[in-house]
Amino acid sequence: MPLRSFFEVIAILRNIFDSHAHYDSRQFDGDREQLLGWTLQEKGVTGIVNMASNLESCQTTWELTRRYDYVFGGAGIHPEDARDLPEDWLEQVRRYLQDPKMVAVGEIGLDYHWLDACPKDRQQEVFQLQLELAREMALPVVVHDREAHADTLAFLQKYRPAGVVHCFSGSWETAREILNLGMYIGLGGVVTFKNARHAVEVAKNIPLDRLVLETDAPYMAPVPFRGKRNDSSLIAYAAEKIGELRGIEPQTLLDCTAENARRLFGIG
Ligand code: NI
Repeated sequence: MPLRSFFEVIAILRNIFDSHAHYDSRQFDGDREQLLGWTLQEKGVTGIVNMASNLESCQTTWELTRRYDYVFGGAGIHPEDARDLPEDWLEQVRRYLQDPKMVAVGEIGLDYHWLDACPKDRQQEVFQLQLELAREMALPVVVHDREAHADTLAFLQKYRPAGVVHCFSGSWETAREILNLGMYIGLGGVVTFKNARHAVEVAKNIPLDRLVLETDAPYMAPVPFRGKRNDSSLIAYAAEKIGELRGIEPQTLLDCTAENARRLFGIG
């Protein structure tokens, strides 16, 4: 069955919850207000969690949560940004997380693809300090894992946080280990890619109450928009694809994953 066209899809879908996006990214400088203030909600988007990656984006994320009721935030340091931090960085992250609209420590994790940006031992140190912060503040974590599946899993098994491994790229076996810890898995545009064997296998097998949908906008746009700027309305395409894989209606999947995201992030 061919995928429905963009306008057919967006005309019928609602209750899209994007568990991971970066609307403070400069790719949205031209039309951020139009998108967040109007267009996305018109296309059925009812919740967004904007993720920080450094101290500057903790601030811009927090500002977005002040401006838009349906936008929530994560505060944290991404592994690529973990090298040059001021001495009080953890204290600064903690302060952002005291705001009730800042609902997660994220995004945090390990990225062994970009070791030039930050060496492994420093990434691990910053990841661990934030896992401890999440425990102390009883907040979920949003975990980035790129080419670091074994080490990421080892840290998650050690700290056992609530949370989600976002843009999941590991095998179904790794996914099962994460699910065994009680965590959620985030899937998005990648499930529509031709070479997405792992993501498709996870999408087929994951218990529905542990799946959340995400864009990672502006990145990871689904087919047929691959390579272009992503936004939360395009989650419709991932929902179509996963619905097709599992034999359920995309709207059922959106309702279910929106409920999961609200439960995960403690959003009423
Ligand atoms: Ni991200």
